Amino acid sequence: MAVAAAHPNIALIKYWGNRDHALRLPSNGSISLTLGGLHTVTRVRFDARLAVDVVRIDRRPATPAEHARVASHLDLVRGLAGLAARAEVTSASDFPVGAGLASSASAFAALTLAATAAAGLDLGRAELSRLARRGSGSACRSIFGGFVEWRLGDDDASSFAEPLDESAAWPLADVIAIVSQSAKPVGSTEGHRLAESSPLQPARVASAPSRLAACRQAILEQDFARLAEVVELDCHLMHAVMQTSSPPLLYWAPASLAVMQAVRAWRAAGDPVCYTLDAGPNVHCVCPASTAGAVAARLRDVAGVVEVLTASAGGPAALLSPDDPRLALL
Ligand code: DP6
Repeated sequence: MAVAAAHPNIALIKYWGNRDHALRLPSNGSISLTLGGLHTVTRVRFDARLAVDVVRIDRRPATPAEHARVASHLDLVRGLAGLAARAEVTSASDFPVGAGLASSASAFAALTLAATAAAGLDLGRAELSRLARRGSGSACRSIFGGFVEWRLGDDDASSFAEPLDESAAWPLADVIAIVSQSAKPVGSTEGHRLAESSPLQPARVASAPSRLAACRQAILEQDFARLAEVVELDCHLMHAVMQTSSPPLLYWAPASLAVMQAVRAWRAAGDPVCYTLDAGPNVHCVCPASTAGAVAARLRDVAGVVEVLTASAGGPAALLSPDDPRLALL
C-alpha cells in the first residue's frame, strides 16, 4: 500500500491539442506553476483477492467514466510492474470540485506516484512524469513543484515535464476568481480532440516556441510585465482556438470578461497582475504573492465573482507517511 499527495497546477503557457490522443503527446510544450495549499491525496492498495479495481473519489464511488480512466491507468502500472492484482484506490481533494481547477492534474500525479510505489516500482521523476502524462496531460507537470515545463518531446519516451525552477524563487500567487461552480459542459479530453478543427490551431502551435521562450525568460528574470504580456496572449490564443472549433467551445461567462477587463485596468494603473483561464469560466489572476491579499479583496468586489481562492507556489508530488495529517481527507 502507498499514499501520495499532489497539487494542481495553473498553465502559464497552455497545453491544447494532441499529436497523439491515445498517448497524450501534446501539440505544443507548456509551462505551469504548481499550486500549493491545494491537494489531492490518493491511497492505492493492490489486493490479489479483488475481482475488479475498486475506486472511491471524494468519499463516493467513482462514476463509470472515472472508474474506466483510473483502471486503464492502473493497467499501465500493472504492465510495468508485471502485476495482475486489482487495486483499491481511495482519493480525495481539498479544493472545491466546482472551482474549475484541473483536478485531473493533481489526481493523476498522486495516482501515478501512489500506484507505482504500491506496485513496488521505484521510478525516477521523469518516468513518473511520463506515466502521469498518460492519465492526464497536465498531470505530468504536477509531479514537480514551482515553475515546470512540459517539453513537447518526439515520442512517448521523450515527452515529460521537468522543473524550470522548483524552488519558485520568484514568489507568485494565483488568485482564482470563481464565477461559476457548475461543471464544465465539455471537458479537456474532448476539447483537445476539437482543437484540430479550428483553422487557428496551426498558427497557435507554430508560434508556441516563441511564447515558451518569452515565458522562460520572464520567469528567469522575474520580469512581470513580460510575463503578463505572454500569459494573456497565450490564454487568448487558446480561447480563440476553442471558440473557432467545430462545434465551438465558449467557456467564458459574462463575469469572466468583467474580471479580465478589471485586471487589465489594474495593470494599466501600475499593479502587477495578469490573468489566464483554463477550460472553464473561472479567472486565474497571477500576481506577486505579496499583493495577493489586495488582489483577492478587489476581485471580491467585481460583480459575478462568487468566491476567491488564493494559492502560492507548491512543491512536488510526494509519498506520505501513515501518520501524515493529510490522510484525514480520505
Ligand atoms: C486548458 O490535462 O486536463 O487546462 O490530458 O485530457 O486530462 P487531459 O487534459 P488536461 O488539459 C489541460 C488543458 C488546460 C491547459 C493546461 O493545463 O495546460
